[in-house]
Amino acid sequence: MKKLLLTGALGFLMFSCSKKENTAEVASSSETAAVSEPAKANLSGDQIMETLDCSGCHSVNERMIGPSYQEIAAKYSDKDIELLASKIIEGGSGVWGGVPMAPHPQVSKEDAKKMVEYILSQKK
Ligand code: HEC
Repeated sequence: MKKLLLTGALGFLMFSCSKKENTAEVASSSETAAVSEPAKANLSGDQIMETLDCSGCHSVNERMIGPSYQEIAAKYSDKDIELLASKIIEGGSGVWGGVPMAPHPQVSKEDAKKMVEYILSQKK
């Protein structure tokens, strides 16, 4: 009987302990969310691309559905940043083959330029 009480007490202790941990976790995760939100503007080109679907069709050194970043970097230079940024936002086709590049209307011009700068920096 005594033993039963003890396990009961232990169980209660463990329960209240893990409950505390949970609330601490929730508090810290909402804290990081609050911090990361305004910092989004400071993301680099490749970090922005990680939040988008680019890697579904592109890779750094291998042609997939779209050309590799190295191929794009070899074809274009810094004076084409504006053009390529519009292509990311508006999409387009006919430069690399029949498959069209998907449009990304949710991307700002500024972010698109950052992504182009990252792509052009992949030149071999
Ligand atoms: C659905 C597949 C797909 C997705 C998703 C995609 N692309 Fe493309 N991308 C392509 C294809 C196909 C081309 C070649 C288009 C052409 O021939 O004009 C291309 C071309 C490009 C070019 C070269 C444009 C030119 O005129 O030479 C750049 C730069 C580019 N993509 C960047 C991106 C970025 C950045 C993202 C993510 C925001 C992205 N792509 C997402 C398929 C995709």
